Formats: sequence, C-alpha cells, structure tokens
Amino acid sequence: MSLNSTNEIDIVKAISSKINDVDFENLSFGSTFTDHMLVCDFKEGHWQKPIIKPYEPFMIDPSAKVFHYGQAIFEGMKAYKGENNSVWLFRPEENLIRFNKSAVRMAMPEVPGSIFIDGLKTILDIERDWVKKGLGNTLYIRPFMIAVGSGVIAQPSTQYRFMIILSPAKSYYSGEVKVIIAEHYSRAANGGIGAAKAAGNYSAQFYPQKLAQEKGFQQIIWTDDATHTKLEEAGTMNVFFRINDTLYTAPTSERILDGVTRKSLIDLAKREGINVDVRSVLVDELIAAAKDGSLKEIFGAGTAAVVSPIVGFQYQGTYYELPKIENSIAMQLKDKLTKIQYKLAEDTFGWTVEV
Ligand code: COI
Repeated sequence: MSLNSTNEIDIVKAISSKINDVDFENLSFGSTFTDHMLVCDFKEGHWQKPIIKPYEPFMIDPSAKVFHYGQAIFEGMKAYKGENNSVWLFRPEENLIRFNKSAVRMAMPEVPGSIFIDGLKTILDIERDWVKKGLGNTLYIRPFMIAVGSGVIAQPSTQYRFMIILSPAKSYYSGEVKVIIAEHYSRAANGGIGAAKAAGNYSAQFYPQKLAQEKGFQQIIWTDDATHTKLEEAGTMNVFFRINDTLYTAPTSERILDGVTRKSLIDLAKREGINVDVRSVLVDELIAAAKDGSLKEIFGAGTAAVVSPIVGFQYQGTYYELPKIENSIAMQLKDKLTKIQYKLAEDTFGWTVEV
C-alpha cells in the first residue's frame, strides 16, 4: 500500500489490483467492485477528511440506526470512457443535488460538493483502467450514506458514513422487460419519501416485485397510492408512454423520483422535434390506447436501465403486447443519449464532465 494525501483527501492504494481476474464481457450487474472505495465520516457536527482506500468490509455497531430504522440514501451514476483514456461523468451535479434533497428528507447531513464531486473524480482517476472503452461498457457509481451512530432509540443518528463504491457494468436488464400495472401495492404516497433515493423505497418494492416475478414479469409500473388510476414510475426507472406520436411521462412529484435520464430524454426528444407531454397518463387511457392500436411504445429510463423498452404489460389479469416497431423512439433516444455520454456526438447541452 502506498499513502499519499492531498490537502483534501487521504489516499491509501491497494498493493495489487483485482482487475485481471474480472471477465468484463460477462458482468452481472452490481456484483463486481473495483480496488478502492471512498469513505468519509460525519461526527461531532462535521464531515471529516475523506479517505480513498482498498475496497474491504468494515465494522459497524449492531445497534447502528441504519440497521434498525433504515436511515440510508444512495445515488446511481455512471462513468464512461472517451478518447485517449479520458473518463467522463454525466450531469454529476444533478446527482449531488438529488442526494442532498434525499439527505434533508431523511434527516441526514448534506454532503458538500468538495467531498461528493471532488472525491468521485479522485477515485475515478485512480480506477481509470476499470472504465472500459466501447458503447455499453460503463463503470456504475454508487455513492451512499448510512447512519452509523449507535443506539436503538428511534431518532436520527448523530454519526454518518458517506461512501463511494464502483462497479463495472453492462446492461441492467438482460432480455425482454414485461411489467405488471400495480393494482394494490404502492411504492410511495404524498408526504412520504417517494421522491428521495432512500434505501427503504427499494426494499419496500421487493415483495410485490417478487410476486410479479413469479408470474413472469420483471417490473411493476406503480400507480398513485390513492386511486391506482395514474401511471407513475417503475421503481428502478421512470416510464415513458408513446401514444400515436406523442411521448408522455408523469410529472415528478412527492411520489416520483426526479430521474436524471428522464429529464435528459425529455430535453433530447424536444430537440429532435418529438412531441413531449409531461402529464399523468391514466391506466384507462393506456388500456384504450392498447386496444385501439394507438399505444406504440412504453419504455423505462434510468441510470442503470438507460432506456429499456417494455414489450408488454398486464392489468387486471389481461396481458397487452406492444407492437414491434422499427426505429422506435426509445431506440432513437437511447442512441442520441449514449453517444453524448460516450463523447461520440457533440454535447450541445453541456451535460458531460471530464474527470
Ligand atoms: C439507478 O438507475 O442507478 C438506480 O439507482 C436504480 C437501482 C435500483 C439500480
């Protein structure tokens, strides 16, 4: 190990790298991690100096609030390889802003950009070789914060740990994505934590998702909790519906995550002259459009999922298959987005940031 520190970050390098043991062509999403991780602790009301050190397990007191009350938030981001070994981030400030909104909602301290963004750039620079060239190859970035203060009293912790771990990744979904439209369970409610990237938002979906998977569906499209009539998001991604030639997606709200991919696709679609209508689509409207043939596409959008076409959906026991479309809007937008992310097309929006 070698230790070298900047004024802002301590760095302890791993003695050797695992990189040669990794089969980059056969990665299972989120299960391989790079050589290093960033750790930064919050105690006595202040963030301490971050450290980048070898990736390894760590100890926390069994009474830590994260275990009992789920005080935990995270982000999902990706790094892309450009020309000449350059490494690029996509709209990282958006993730920082959302992370801190999640922190406020979960009564956790906000993380300054000097730790989140500068720390991320420093660890990515160290792990540059883990970002592989070529469309589809990414390094998935998982910044997260957990409450590490001990004591089972149900109050916010006074101690937190912010970390960044990195995982080489290809696609999130392998194969076709079929969904069920939620009729009973809910992901979020007004006044709740649906708009935060809180760990509990995801685990709360595991049981209904398991029931859906047992019936052969990969995801659930959540509906509003009060009436189950409005289509909202799919939990791991926001959703778009193409009816005739208009793209619809629900407005962000207290129940829906403000996805970076979602908002980028809206801007890209508008630039391409595609009609975009940001409004709630009713389940009844979707069924009517599926029946009269005006429903052309449904696709999910998210950092991990990128743009994932949905081949069909089930509602009240009936399965509706979507038409197979040549040159779909989903694929056109995916192509435009990824070419910007991989620096293969001009980034007129100024979204990409070099590490
Ligand atoms: C992402 O798209 O990065 C997410 O955070 C979703 C996650 C469940 C993989």
